[in-house]
Amino acid sequence: MLVEQSSRVEQTARLKDEIQRIKKEKDVVILAHNYQIPDVQDIADFTGDSLGLSRKAAKVNQKTILFCGVHFMAETAAIICPDKRVLIPDLQAGCSLSDSITVDELRNWKKQHPNAITVGYVNTTAEIKSELDYCCTSANAVNVVKAIPADKEILFLPDMFLGSYVAKMTGRKKMYIWAGECHVHAGIKPEDITKKLDSLKDAEFVIHPECSCTTPMLFDMASGSFDNHKVSILSTEGMMTHVNSSKAKNFVVATETGILYKMRQQNPDKTFIPASEKAECQYMKMITLDKVYDALVQDKYEVVVPKEIADKARLAIERMLAIS
Ligand code: 13P
Ligand code: SF4
Repeated sequence: MLVEQSSRVEQTARLKDEIQRIKKEKDVVILAHNYQIPDVQDIADFTGDSLGLSRKAAKVNQKTILFCGVHFMAETAAIICPDKRVLIPDLQAGCSLSDSITVDELRNWKKQHPNAITVGYVNTTAEIKSELDYCCTSANAVNVVKAIPADKEILFLPDMFLGSYVAKMTGRKKMYIWAGECHVHAGIKPEDITKKLDSLKDAEFVIHPECSCTTPMLFDMASGSFDNHKVSILSTEGMMTHVNSSKAKNFVVATETGILYKMRQQNPDKTFIPASEKAECQYMKMITLDKVYDALVQDKYEVVVPKEIADKARLAIERMLAIS
């Protein structure tokens, strides 16, 4: 058993070395989302959130980006970096949230509200982005909505928890929210959080705005229920920055559990507890070291966004970047 384990460790180390060698030889930059498995995060040049990674990719010299994340993220990189080739190790790595609205559904919705401004989360396909007025991320959704004149109707999609959070924070009245959700974050329930926080009295609480517990949590915060805990609603990279600089020693983390690897690695003296151990995104976990290796060796799978879609989608992203 021990012998088996040590040969597996050696194999993994060899595979990582090979990936590093081929990556340099082929002049490829590897990006990994914060939810990727630890081995994949280890071989990445950069880890971060979806938009942050794509913006980083636009600044590096390499002409090929190997995106270890889900499909909409690789598309976003292809939109932001039109002169580069974007590869993803597994084309099946999708996203339940981005699947929760189709282009036809969006077009119908827009027809019902012809004067509305459409704001869409970055977790959407390139085709959906090409239909948006503004793109937004979990980090800047509040500012994007605040920048739109108050008398305008807004269609917000696809995440209903992020949408409710934004509506609450901005006090926006004419904001219609698509009833989409991410199955991973929707599965983190307020009861999970309460139990964990009760077990760690001095813990800070960091939460992703896609969680189903966000909305009740906002009301609880306003009524003082969390007075013993500092609560921060942040994107994945926002969470990283926050826990790295916070003086607190204990944290309850409400998002996909992959982020705990980097938090623990960068803060060995702090304790991180997941709000729910079950919060795992099976799409993110489809990317393995073997698939990264195959992708590098065989130059697969290329993610191509047709120019007319990419140009329109880029506009929505640029409008967002001009605000935040
Ligand atoms: P971030 O952009 O905050 O990393 O979130 C992406 C995502 O897929 C959340 O589930
Ligand atoms: Fe999509 Fe949810 Fe997975 Fe993020 S965690 S990639 S929103 S399914």
